[in-house]
Amino acid sequence: MNQNQKFAQWLELRIAYDAKARNLNVETSCQEYLQKHKHLKILDLGAGTGANCRYYFSKISQEQEWFLVEQNQELLEIAFDRLIVWAQENGYESQLQNSILVLKNQFHQITIHKIVGSILDLENLIDLNTFDLAIANAVFDLFSENQFQTLLECLKKYQLPLLATINYTGMNFIPQTDNDSCFIKYYHQHMQRHQYFGRGMGPNCGSSMWEAMNRIGMKVLQGESSWKISNNDPVLIELILGFMEESIPEIIEEATLQDELNTWLLKKQEMIAQNKLSCNVAHLDFWGYWEGCIT
Ligand SMILES: C[S@@+](CC[C@H](N)C(=O)[O-])C[C@H]1O[C@@H](n2cnc3c(N)ncnc32)[C@H](O)[C@@H]1O
Repeated sequence: MNQNQKFAQWLELRIAYDAKARNLNVETSCQEYLQKHKHLKILDLGAGTGANCRYYFSKISQEQEWFLVEQNQELLEIAFDRLIVWAQENGYESQLQNSILVLKNQFHQITIHKIVGSILDLENLIDLNTFDLAIANAVFDLFSENQFQTLLECLKKYQLPLLATINYTGMNFIPQTDNDSCFIKYYHQHMQRHQYFGRGMGPNCGSSMWEAMNRIGMKVLQGESSWKISNNDPVLIELILGFMEESIPEIIEEATLQDELNTWLLKKQEMIAQNKLSCNVAHLDFWGYWEGCIT
């Protein structure tokens, strides 16, 4: 299994947790805003394997046209495979016409386009004039403040509203044990390490996004969307610990700290084996629109 296939597996696993966590106040405000549109043209930014649009299909009653924007082409290929399976499981016929996927049942038609490229290059990828909405799930904690600002400036130009869900703001294990705060801090430092585009917002994305959206003149609603992972549900906790095990050594230098990390991870594995470890992962959802644009 290659890296993309592994990542796709992680994205599939988190769907159920995202679905439970999404903030319904935020979601309902967005739905109310859109209800007068007869046809919706939607950008899914950082679409990955299409989990976000699969979530919204049944929540939108209008005819839908989706544009999945994703920098990783292989993930988009997997997205189309999964959308075809989704169609079979949900009573839709699917047709692939010139790389455009059309899903139909007797009531609805959903058209889906793949756009390989960067969210930061939207204007060069596609004509943004006719869109109604941009959405993004689990994307902006990866962005730097500057990148998010650049995107907002582009959305402002076209008066496009933004529904941004599941933006990571922090985590804790239950029960808490020695060194949890130390290694969560290193995990966050890794998210905010220096990269070619600057530093990702990581756990600060909640406050940074709120400020940036207000500063640029959007009307903004925010709400919590936390995962509550129970002690009877070890798979996701193991995956999160796996991410920590891989990433933290990239930013710690002292060998003693690596030993402490190994001991801490072992202790966590013991607790998982005894069904004694739960975990909360905190996120925020945002709905931002331009005043005067309510139709
Ligand atoms: C955590 S995944 C979330 C995927 C999907 N939204 C979901 O909910 O399953 C973040 C995705 O954003 C994509 N991404 C990050 N930065 C991007 C950029 N600048 N342009 C396009 N895609 C980007 C990544 O390739 C990845 O697929």
